[in-house]
Amino acid sequence: MKHYKIALIKGDGIGPEVIDEAVKVLDSVAAFAGFHFEYEEALMGGIAYDITGDPLPKETIEIALKSDAVLFGAIGGEKWDKLERELRPESGLLRFRKELGVYANLRPATVYDELVNASSLKPSVVSGVDLVVVRELIGGLYFGEPKGRTDDKGWNTMVYTRSEIKRIAHKAFEIAMTRKKIVCSVDKANVLEVSQLWREVVIEVSSEYPEVELSHMYVDNAAMQLIRNPKQFDVMLTGNIFGDILSDESSMLSGSIGLLPSASIGSKIGVYEPIHGSAPDIAGQGIANPIATIASASMMLRYALGEAKAADKIDASIKRTLKEGYRTHDLAQFDAKEVCSTSEMGSIIANYVSK
Ligand code: IPM
Ligand code: MG
Repeated sequence: MKHYKIALIKGDGIGPEVIDEAVKVLDSVAAFAGFHFEYEEALMGGIAYDITGDPLPKETIEIALKSDAVLFGAIGGEKWDKLERELRPESGLLRFRKELGVYANLRPATVYDELVNASSLKPSVVSGVDLVVVRELIGGLYFGEPKGRTDDKGWNTMVYTRSEIKRIAHKAFEIAMTRKKIVCSVDKANVLEVSQLWREVVIEVSSEYPEVELSHMYVDNAAMQLIRNPKQFDVMLTGNIFGDILSDESSMLSGSIGLLPSASIGSKIGVYEPIHGSAPDIAGQGIANPIATIASASMMLRYALGEAKAADKIDASIKRTLKEGYRTHDLAQFDAKEVCSTSEMGSIIANYVSK
């Protein structure tokens, strides 16, 4: 029997609730497909700070590196907002990404047919949207030097090297080759030097993918076009900060940020996580939507473990659940036949997976 080791980082807020449901679904698909998961929990974020004094204990990296993949919930919360930057939950996550070298963050935004009414945009605008933001994750404005703070001045630097741009561009083109073969590279080349280099390198890399249609868009225009006509996009290639913003924006096409998964990959092990945050305001009430995390577990099966059939099974079960009218709290107003709790939603999906 095949055996996979998964590191579970539940984190803060609703993180533990949504991870528990993903585990339920993973165990169900494992029983169905004939493999076995072994989980090891690791600490990150506010809870890690509370227990160990460090938002990213060394042990967490060690556990991650000896696993086949990491499934991650969410981190952060007001409780830790006043800590100095290095001790904040977010710093733990950024260090984690850097240490694992996960330079490519894939954030698909698809619109489930059953939920076209849930988007804040018109159904005719969002129906059939299927795009993926390929966001550079361990460079750019988040990590550039110099950075600093005095009493009346704060500064960060947006830096990209040729090699950093090259590897994320290759990733975007490779993904486009498995999809509609359209890449839109997002930058601010009319203002920023770093974006001029970005555009130059993306054009160079594109010559290796003659079948892929490449366009360039300034980030402000891209933000507008995502709302105006999102169906024009297939793969959106972005730097770190632009991708952070545009992926949150694109999530709203689908109706709830509680639906969208992501994968962070590099040359070592990958991290699979919902794109939403820890939502402390609803934590512990059993109303969070676990679908984003369950869909992230499906991406983990597909990309990290090569278990495409099992991933398909999960994706189909999510669709069936929505089709039959089961909705968590966030989507209760949209064609719900039955409003269910976080754990009921996980159980329904797990049950469909086993059939
Ligand atoms: C994300 C989050 C993180 C980011 C935060 C929590 C550091 O917003 O994954 O999009 O900005 O990358
Ligand atoms: Mg973000």
